[in-house]
Amino acid sequence: MSMNHPEPSNLIRFENVSKKYGAFYALRDVSFEVKEGEIVGLLGPNGAGKTTVMRTLSGFFPPTSGRVFVRDLEMAKHPHKAKRAIGYLPETVSLYPDMRVIEYLRFVAKLKGVPAHELRGHVRSKMSFCGLLDSGHRLIGRLSKGYRQRVGLAQALMADPPVLVLDEPTTGLDPTQIKEIRELIRALGQNRAVILSTHILPEVSMLCSRVMMINQGQILASGTVRELASCLEDREAIHIKIKDKQDQDRALKILSLLPGIWNLKVSEEVRGETFISFETSPDEDLRPRITKLFVEQGVSLLEIQRLQLTLEDIFLGLLREGKLGRRFP
Ligand SMILES: Nc1ncnc2c1ncn2[C@@H]1O[C@H](COP(=O)(O)OP(=O)(O)O)[C@@H](O)[C@H]1O
Ligand SMILES: [Mg+2]
Repeated sequence: MSMNHPEPSNLIRFENVSKKYGAFYALRDVSFEVKEGEIVGLLGPNGAGKTTVMRTLSGFFPPTSGRVFVRDLEMAKHPHKAKRAIGYLPETVSLYPDMRVIEYLRFVAKLKGVPAHELRGHVRSKMSFCGLLDSGHRLIGRLSKGYRQRVGLAQALMADPPVLVLDEPTTGLDPTQIKEIRELIRALGQNRAVILSTHILPEVSMLCSRVMMINQGQILASGTVRELASCLEDREAIHIKIKDKQDQDRALKILSLLPGIWNLKVSEEVRGETFISFETSPDEDLRPRITKLFVEQGVSLLEIQRLQLTLEDIFLGLLREGKLGRRFP
C-alpha cells in the first residue's frame, strides 16, 4: 500500500445481519462490506431478500439481529447521522404527484438540511446532473417512469451522501432510459460507495465492480465476475475454426505439443470448416501463441475464441452444486 493511495475506507458494513418477518427469515446472517469507489451489485431472483438488505441498510427498519454500519457509524446508535450519509432510491419511488419537480427537490433539500443560501444552486446542480433542467416545472404525476427515476435519483443525491443505495434502479425502464440511468450511476460510483440491486444478470457485469449473489436471504457468493468464475471452474475453453481438412493435421500437431491443453476435440465440419476445441487454464491466455504458431506453419485460422463462463452459468452452477451457504472471498 502506497502512502499516496491510502486503502479506500469501508463505507458500508453488515455484521451478521438477520431480519425476520414474523417467524420467516428474510435475511439470515448476512455480512459484507462496500468500500469507497466500489459499485457493488446485489444479484438475486425475486424474493431473494434484496429489498430487505436495502431497507435495513437505509435505516428504514432495524435488523432482528446483527449490526449495520455506515462509515464508522452504527445505524442503531447514530440513526440520524448514519441516515444523513445515505442516499436511497427505493424500489418504488413514492413521489408527490401534485408537486412540480423543482418544488419537490427544494423540499427534499430543505429536509436534508441543505442551508437556505445554497439551496437554489444545490438543487440546480442535481437537476443538471440527472438531466432534469428542462423538466423543473413539470408535474411529477405526469412524468414517465424514466423521468420519475431521475427525480428519485436527484432526491437520493441531494445532500451529497457518500453512500448510495439503489433498489432495482433500471426495472421498468425502456432500453434508452436504462442506458441513461446506467451512465449516471457509473459516473456516481467514482468517489462513493454504491450498492444496487438487480435481478438482471448482464446488468452487474456492465456496471458493477463486484457482485454479491443472494438467494433465500443468504449471500451465496461474492467477488468480481472473474473471481466467481474461477471459484466454480478453473478451466476455460478455447474454440478454434480453421479453413479446411488439410490444415487439421498440422493444427492438431501444433496443439498437441503445447503444454496446458486438455480435452482436445475435433468437432463437426461445416462446408469443410473444422472446429477444434480444448480446455486451458484461465491463468494464461494461449491465443496469441497459437495464432503465431498457426501463421508460421501456414494453417489458415478463421476464428479463435476464448469462452468464459457467464454470470448465469456461475449462478446456476452454484445452485446446482448445492454450494448454498458456502462463502467465497
Ligand atoms: N413486510 C413483509 N412482511 C412479510 N414478508 C415480507 C415482507 N417484505 C418482504 N417479505 C418477504 O421476504 C422475502 C424477501 O423479500 P424482498 O427483500 O422484497 O426480496 P427481493 O427484493 O429480492 O425481491 C420474500 O420472501 C418476501 O415475500
Ligand atoms: Mg425487491
